[in-house]
Amino acid sequence: MMNKILVIHGPNLALLGEREVAVYGNFTLDEINQKLNELAKQEKVELEIAQLDGEGEIVEKIGKARKAVQAILINPGAYTHYSVAIRDAIAAVGIPTIEVHLSNIYAREEFRHKSVIAPVAIGQISGFGINSYLLGLKAAIDLIKK
Ligand code: DQA
Repeated sequence: MMNKILVIHGPNLALLGEREVAVYGNFTLDEINQKLNELAKQEKVELEIAQLDGEGEIVEKIGKARKAVQAILINPGAYTHYSVAIRDAIAAVGIPTIEVHLSNIYAREEFRHKSVIAPVAIGQISGFGINSYLLGLKAAIDLIKK
């Protein structure tokens, strides 16, 4: 069976390309997904990609991923900073998870400096725009192949 990685884009990320372009860049979510799929194809891993605005939807998605995927790549959006439910879901399934952010959350408003997800993630990549996702996917693939 081919290794599978679940990619979750959190709330408001469907608006990329239009939303706060100075902060997030002018590429769209489709463009990010296209690049992720190219890398996955090269590395011979399968991706399941979802964009979910609801906290409960994300919790449900993570719960259902148990036994179905070998790693999770997640940009939890604003939930990063306060969703104990998403953090607990990641801890519960025990699937190696990598947290990514387009912007450098530590260079922005103080309320973005804290991630409640980071302590249950393998690691976090923040501030490299579209490359945060690509670096995160590379890290996830390396973890799986180890
Ligand atoms: C974000 C950073 C979060 O603070 C913000 O709420 C987002 C996007 C990022 O990718 O830079 O929605 O996760």
